[in-house]
Amino acid sequence: MSAPKYHLTSYGCQMNKLDSELVESKLRQRGYQLAASEGEASVVLINTCSVRQHAEDRVWSKLGQLRMRKRTEPQLVVGVLGCMAQEHKQFMLARMPHVDLVVGPSAFGDIDQTVEQARIRNLELVSKQRPSLGKRKVLGAGVVAVDLGVSGDTIVRDVKVRPHRSQAFVSIMRGCNMPCTYCIVPTTRGEEISRPIADIVEEASRLCADGVTEMTLLGQTVNAYGRDLGTGVTLARLLRALHEIPALRRLAFITSHPNFLSADLIAAMAELPKLARYLHLPVQSGSNAVLKNMRRGYTVERYLARVEQLLLAAPDFVLHSDFIVGYPGETDADFAKTVALVLQVQFAQSYIFKYSPRPGTVAAELADDVPLAIKEARNQELLNVQEEITQRQHIALIGSTQEVLVEGPSQSDPLRLSGRTAHHRIVHFDGFSEDLVGRYVPVRIRAALGHSLLGDKLGETDAEQGVHDKVESVRV
Ligand code: 5AD
Ligand code: SF4
Repeated sequence: MSAPKYHLTSYGCQMNKLDSELVESKLRQRGYQLAASEGEASVVLINTCSVRQHAEDRVWSKLGQLRMRKRTEPQLVVGVLGCMAQEHKQFMLARMPHVDLVVGPSAFGDIDQTVEQARIRNLELVSKQRPSLGKRKVLGAGVVAVDLGVSGDTIVRDVKVRPHRSQAFVSIMRGCNMPCTYCIVPTTRGEEISRPIADIVEEASRLCADGVTEMTLLGQTVNAYGRDLGTGVTLARLLRALHEIPALRRLAFITSHPNFLSADLIAAMAELPKLARYLHLPVQSGSNAVLKNMRRGYTVERYLARVEQLLLAAPDFVLHSDFIVGYPGETDADFAKTVALVLQVQFAQSYIFKYSPRPGTVAAELADDVPLAIKEARNQELLNVQEEITQRQHIALIGSTQEVLVEGPSQSDPLRLSGRTAHHRIVHFDGFSEDLVGRYVPVRIRAALGHSLLGDKLGETDAEQGVHDKVESVRV
């Protein structure tokens, strides 16, 4: 019998994308094959995100399409994984008979068994040719639903299953214990659980032995790593341990919480040359009133003080942030403070989101009182402010030489290659060559595009003159 074919679509954050890789690695170990398209797959999995309504809407609509498909292919296995599975398990069990498995993010460790169970059950149901097949009565009754089980972090990872030859994500902690009022993540992903340092170093070493040179550590509050272990281990210690792996050239970590940007982490950031030179440190708002309402646990002043300490110790770092606009009660004056903060910090990149009430969160109890049109206008204004900053920073880099880790063909022009600098900036350059993918090449920047840079790859001799990112002098 030929191997069952699966297709997996992923929504949401990097953690979700990594979870999808882990799920794939489990399925492949069990002999499943990746289908060329969703239409060819006998197992269709969706790894979902609940962080905003929009992310959920896309999944509901996809599930609608799969409901149609299942009418003619009753043996098809449809699986909802991840945050929505956790959040809407009851609804799916009761109301979505075409969904065969509902698996929350804490139960990916034995996902292959769960999928196989559903696949065999569907085949048996079809072979019995039950007349009501496809109706809730039959399929709904057998839905496999898992919320707590074997966490993905216990999976001994198949390092071969990864999208990039030289880049990898590594989860170092799961869950979140922070009380942010707007966020569904603590509900969907549960309590903070850090992985033992030895497991992480072991996985990282295997990845590097297999060709990985750039690693990004993942956690919802990645810089709180270790506090639940009670062994005194911190992110700084972990970074120092990973830094010792000879083949590793770049090490990054996302996403940090301002309250855990400790002195020992700052010291590690300043001292360790392999660290990528960006810090994703979401501030969410520039208004103390809004920050208080969000229960973020810091003020703008405290955030700025931490950033200042970091830049004093490691001036070549750039900052990235997330923002929520239109949080309940946010006034024009609050929003103006957010704009002012963006101008002051001169973030290299900002992700800006319109507030989206998530049922079950503290904020969902408040009136969502900022009209959509105002949320949209604030979103656009902040985007414009950020784009102008990014553009100015990019212009200031013209003429500099950047070390670019080549990721692959440029999305806009397949004759070009593109990759990222140590500051996480995207650089495109001419001359496609498969051989360069996964290598670090020196590129002299010649033009600033809106969201990226354009440059020319330097030859070997030019490269000797220094390939490191010029310290960016664009901060004001
Ligand atoms: N509405 C809008 N944005 C949100 N985020 C988290 N929850 C919400 C919400 N309810 C944003 C935050 C977070 C990022 C991952 O998503 O900015 O940092
Ligand atoms: Fe989305 Fe948050 Fe879940 Fe990631 S952890 S998939 S961002 S809800």
